[in-house]
Amino acid sequence: MKLVLFATAALALCASCGLYRTGPPQYRPGLPSPPPNATGEQIFQRDCAWCHGPKGQGTDNAPALRGSTGKADVDFMLRTGRMPLSDPHEQMLHRPAAYSAKQIEAVDNYVASIGAKGPAVPKVRTSAALRPKGLALYQSNCAACHSSTGIGGALVPGKTEVKGRISSIAAPALTRATPLEVAEAIRTGPGAMPSYDARSLSNGDVDAIASYVSYIQHPLDRGGASISRVGPVAEGAVAWGGLVLLLFFCRWIGTRER
Ligand code: HEC
Ligand code: HEC
Repeated sequence: MKLVLFATAALALCASCGLYRTGPPQYRPGLPSPPPNATGEQIFQRDCAWCHGPKGQGTDNAPALRGSTGKADVDFMLRTGRMPLSDPHEQMLHRPAAYSAKQIEAVDNYVASIGAKGPAVPKVRTSAALRPKGLALYQSNCAACHSSTGIGGALVPGKTEVKGRISSIAAPALTRATPLEVAEAIRTGPGAMPSYDARSLSNGDVDAIASYVSYIQHPLDRGGASISRVGPVAEGAVAWGGLVLLLFFCRWIGTRER
């Protein structure tokens, strides 16, 4: 009886550490890759125009790519594989990019030529010396949504309206974003994320945050295993598991002594 109770408690604790680990489903757009020498215009007209309109003016499927949208927005969306969607109601997720770096640049330039006048693609310089400043800026500006260890987290459960579209909102893990993508996210504010202009975070601040985010992707785990970095729940679960094992061990020694 006691054994069953112990086993149930141990199982329940282990199950609770798995809760946070439900990652986004892997998805690849069904389109074949465009030829390597395709121009930005050709790619845009083939893969983007049916949603964003042939002149980027927007359609019922997707917003206009003009005004406050800029090269940085397009670059971020393509680098992180969020665009092209294959269905207007699908959620934007970080996926393998559909295009090469050269093709992405060509599309950035084409969209800028048809009226996207927003932020340019930022230049980022990361360095280890900037990490302490990055830590402070990250904790005050980003951790509330992406968690202090960068594993992301739920913001609003269920269905919520963002920029006129209905979606459920979660701040993704920052485990895959490159420094450039971090800077682009800061300047453009994808989806439900706020954007930060140079008055709220200077270019130097952005460099510092990007340096810190690169660091938390491969942190030094002094003292042992990271246990998925979900915090005290998992650590407690491991401690409890160890305690249960220790009890069995003591009993085992006790039995042999007799
Ligand atoms: C199936 C329809 C669809 C296709 C195809 C598509 N998009 Fe989008 N795109 C959307 C929707 C819908 C949004 C708005 C997403 C949101 O805000 O949640 C969006 C948002 C964007 C944004 C962000 C706009 C902003 O200012 O916030 C950019 C940039 C973008 N798309 C670029 C592209 C490019 C470039 C392509 C082609 C390679 C493309 N999209 C293909 C539907 C599409
Ligand atoms: C209000 C909550 C919120 C805050 C604050 C916030 N973010 Fe985000 N962030 C989001 C959401 C939501 C997304 C997903 C956007 C989408 O594609 O729909 C996101 C996406 C990102 C991505 C893209 C990740 C990937 O791999 O695709 C990066 C990088 C990022 N944020 C960095 C930051 C940094 C750095 C800060 C602090 C300066 C920050 N965020 C502040 C909510 C937030």
